Amino acid sequence: MPKVKFLPSGIEVSAKAGDSLLDIALANDVSIQHACGGFCACTTCHCEVMEGEVNLDAPDSDELERLDVLDGRTTHSRLACQSKVKGDVTVRVVNFE
Ligand code: FES
Repeated sequence: MPKVKFLPSGIEVSAKAGDSLLDIALANDVSIQHACGGFCACTTCHCEVMEGEVNLDAPDSDELERLDVLDGRTTHSRLACQSKVKGDVTVRVVNFE
């Protein structure tokens, strides 16, 4: 099972392959904003991937369009609701509830 570590809390959990970072966070009481409810419409679930970027599925065109207009975007930015895990990954949550 993939291991997902959320920073800055340091919470590390086992996850099911194919689950989104947002679903994994919410199921494990990790504080993260998700204003649109996970529909790729808000960017509040912005995460920065610190390790294991290859263990997330590639962003689709909808996510890339959102990331294009995201303030504070880095080359490792992803939307948690759109990022499905395939293996171990460490991400930094940018916006808290
Ligand atoms: S929760 Fe709105 S884009 Fe991810």
